[in-house]
Amino acid sequence: MRPEEAKRDHYRKMAKRAGYVSRAAFKIKEIDKKYGIFKAGQRVLDLGASPGGWSQIALKAIGPEGEVYAIDRRPLKFEANNLKFLQMDVLKDKISISGFDVVMSDLAPNVSGVWEHDQYVQIQLAQRALEIAEASLKRGGNFVCKLFDGEGVSEIVSRAKKEFGFVKLTKPKASRKQSSELYLVCKNYLRRNA
Ligand SMILES: C[S@@+](CC[C@H](N)C(=O)[O-])C[C@H]1O[C@@H](n2cnc3c(N)ncnc32)[C@H](O)[C@@H]1O
Repeated sequence: MRPEEAKRDHYRKMAKRAGYVSRAAFKIKEIDKKYGIFKAGQRVLDLGASPGGWSQIALKAIGPEGEVYAIDRRPLKFEANNLKFLQMDVLKDKISISGFDVVMSDLAPNVSGVWEHDQYVQIQLAQRALEIAEASLKRGGNFVCKLFDGEGVSEIVSRAKKEFGFVKLTKPKASRKQSSELYLVCKNYLRRNA
């Protein structure tokens, strides 16, 4: 087994043992550990949530007083009392909920294999996620968003720097080395227009 396959297999087994519905759970867990995204009692919006690994991590971190709104085109693979699922397309449907402490987006296109196309769609999804965060985050809120490195990333980072007190690009260990996946971590939403 090649090292990258072994790593994927390792995270798959760990996810199964921990009862997480996806390996992706470890990415947000690592980001939270490093940057302190969640606190008990928070309201969290999870964009591109299916099958639900990120929501599982958030629910554990925010505890029974908190709640997660999860949005995806596809259904989740688990349920919880303080988890609400909204089946919608973030590029087509209007999202009218707000008042969140955290907005997180692991939105990603169905990979077509044509890199330029996939990267373009991913940037559209990330731009939309930032737009949703700007409209629905409370002042002081946090935003985490998947990006595919390439054209459009620097524009998103510059826009985020105007809106948040802290902005950083990071690549979690749980992310495949060869993949161009990066995560934008933004803290302390300034909410200038409120
Ligand atoms: C990498 S997966 C998310 C994995 C998830 N964070 C987890 O931990 O289980 C990306 C998700 O984005 C969703 N997605 C892509 N485009 C979307 C859109 N336009 N509207 C809603 N969901 C979308 C896909 O359906 C897919 O479930």
